[in-house]
Amino acid sequence: MPTLAARSGSPARTLRVNTQSPYDVHIGTNILSQAGQILTGDGLAPSKVLVVTTPVIQALWLAEAAKGLEGMPWDLAVIPDGEVHKSLETVSSLYDTLAERRFGRDSMVLALGGGVVGDVAGFAAATYMRGIAFAQAPTTLLAQVDASVGGKVAVDHVRGKNLIGAFHQPASVLCDLAVLDTLPARTYSDGLAEVVKTALIGGEEFLAFVEGHVAGLLRRERPVVGRVVEDCIRLKAFIVETDERDLGNRMLLNLGHTFGHAIETSCGYAGVSHGQAVAVGLAMATHLAVLLQEAGAGLLRRIESLLRALNLPTMVAELAISATPEELRHHLGADKKRREGRARFIVPKAPGNIVVVESVPEDVLRQVIEGSYSGVPASSAGPHGGTPAHHAGVLRGDAS
Ligand SMILES: NC(=O)c1ccc[n+]([C@@H]2O[C@H](COP(=O)([O-])OP(=O)(O)OC[C@H]3O[C@@H](n4cnc5c(N)ncnc54)[C@H](O)[C@@H]3O)[C@@H](O)[C@H]2O)c1
Repeated sequence: MPTLAARSGSPARTLRVNTQSPYDVHIGTNILSQAGQILTGDGLAPSKVLVVTTPVIQALWLAEAAKGLEGMPWDLAVIPDGEVHKSLETVSSLYDTLAERRFGRDSMVLALGGGVVGDVAGFAAATYMRGIAFAQAPTTLLAQVDASVGGKVAVDHVRGKNLIGAFHQPASVLCDLAVLDTLPARTYSDGLAEVVKTALIGGEEFLAFVEGHVAGLLRRERPVVGRVVEDCIRLKAFIVETDERDLGNRMLLNLGHTFGHAIETSCGYAGVSHGQAVAVGLAMATHLAVLLQEAGAGLLRRIESLLRALNLPTMVAELAISATPEELRHHLGADKKRREGRARFIVPKAPGNIVVVESVPEDVLRQVIEGSYSGVPASSAGPHGGTPAHHAGVLRGDAS
């Protein structure tokens, strides 16, 4: 399936992403301390590198990166931590730094951090001087398995998540598995939500692997985590290669995100992490699939129990969220994944078989939302977590 090739003889596993401007993703342990060498090996010779990070990551991992960048001119920009700072204001502060310190067209931005740093630094790199090179050194599991690959860079807007953004592929990605050791348990679990999403898209074998390695994943056993990171990147790269600008198949990667983004937007990007929102979104998308008779109740039970085993929430009721069901419904309509004003939902029929549905009947949508607020897992709320909807009015398309 993927066109990725492992390059032998390199210090880490190297996967090639064949987008219009191809690049390598390096996966290994302690590779941050070889950053300069790896970037040079990828043919990059920036006049200067701006390392963008946050205070938390600066304290934990900047010394390693600095060791790796020895001999390469670099400077530092520290941005505030957290999703609420994934904003144009933060991007603007990076423009100030780049301009004041005279970064030119031949310079590069290196994002050292989680998905927030990658998205913000990448968007600054995409737009400063009409675009300069950028590389990613993702430090969260979520950023390694998902955010650092694919070239989507964006900031949030009060009216929608990732509403202001660009496509700007990185020139290189360095996934150092050692950095995952310092992640707080909850942040680590956030990444596991994207792992479940990717495994469900990937198919039965991938999903069964994750289900069979819950303990190893929670213990952060390096061979298990390394395999999962690699398989997620492989699948993401395969999808991105076939639909770089998100006009078709790439939509599949948004499984769980239509509900997830609405949850995040409805609570002002504070209090609920992206990973938690995606976990609940996955359960809601699967519940929707069951109500639309696209999937069997067994799949819902399976997804909910895997999420729970990985210490992830499955219901809005478990989140610190003050938004009402009506507010959540309102934000569902504002998601970017809509066509001609209609929200589109990506739902699983089975592992590896994901479809897009449009014009979902309002009462079915309400049932999914209210079910998630009820505090009773959808899989135990009745034979199907509710009455199955009839298909009249539901348009569906095969996104695979
Ligand atoms: N561009 C994409 O394709 C894409 C895909 C998925 C998600 N995203 C975005 O990614 C963001 C979520 O990313 P995230 O979950 O990494 O959140 P994050 O970047 O906010 O990081 C979570 C927390 O972990 C801390 N942290 C990071 N690395 C650490 C380490 N090694 N040790 C200890 N603490 C560390 C950070 O300081 C932060 O407090 C969202 O904004 C989401 O929209 C983007």
